Amino acid sequence: MPPEGLADAVRGLVSEGYAGANVTIPHKEAVLALCDSLDDSARRAGAANTLVFEGGTVRGSNTDGSGFIANVRDQGELLTGPALILGAGGAARAIAAALLDEGMTVTVTNRGLDRAETLAAALPGIRVLPWDQREAALADTALLVNTTSLGMHGQPPLAFDFAQAHSALVVADVVYVPLRTGFLDTAAERGLRTVEGLGMLLHQAVPGFAAWFGVTPVVDDEVRTLVSAGIPAYSDGK
Ligand SMILES: NC(=O)c1ccc[n+]([C@@H]2O[C@H](COP(=O)([O-])OP(=O)(O)OC[C@H]3O[C@@H](n4cnc5c(N)ncnc54)[C@H](OP(=O)(O)O)[C@@H]3O)[C@@H](O)[C@H]2O)c1
Repeated sequence: MPPEGLADAVRGLVSEGYAGANVTIPHKEAVLALCDSLDDSARRAGAANTLVFEGGTVRGSNTDGSGFIANVRDQGELLTGPALILGAGGAARAIAAALLDEGMTVTVTNRGLDRAETLAAALPGIRVLPWDQREAALADTALLVNTTSLGMHGQPPLAFDFAQAHSALVVADVVYVPLRTGFLDTAAERGLRTVEGLGMLLHQAVPGFAAWFGVTPVVDDEVRTLVSAGIPAYSDGK
């Protein structure tokens, strides 16, 4: 849907009696202006991915950060800092806010430094690191998160040298197409623990589903199998 159709689409859903909607790229920021109220998660992320319609009004929230946290926990990993986030786009900001809320030290590095600085200005407490220092910073990193679109189907891979990583580093990717990115495989080859992006997608959907249908879904193996069925496992499509 083109950006100019967003307002009519949301109004149409409200008037037709829908309970709510999920919002995805590229509309997550623009939809804020169409919300009558926002919760803290949407305000801090500067974007909404979940809309709940109540009495003709639109409430916006952002569940990307909480979905990321729930997925890391679900994979049995601890959320201990310091965290290093690669990228400074919409996913990075939501995750950075959620990690800060967990009490973690969070550093953001981005190819375009100005975008990382904008993110840090919006979220006091975030540190900014020049992009060319991302690999050297691993020595002081407990959780490394790729939030760039690199590694996504149709995009170049995210090349990364893990030589500086200590053995307890946890490496997470938010990319979920393919299910298994080269970035995670490279980390795993060095013996590092990894967290795939699909679980974040599944967990971010839980609060919206609960609000719309009054049932809180459980993210289990059956759901994973159903959703992952149509997604290539590796970047070569296998
Ligand atoms: N698992 C989930 O539930 C979930 C949820 C949300 C998003 N995602 C995924 O997260 C990814 C990012 O989404 P987003 O909404 O944050 O996108 P976005 O706002 O467009 O941000 C894209 C980020 O990727 C960086 N980037 C793009 N090309 C690059 C390159 N060649 N080299 C280095 N950095 C590059 C950008 O850096 P610059 O600023 O320098 O351009 C920016 O930091 C997508 O793959 C999306 O599918 C997954």
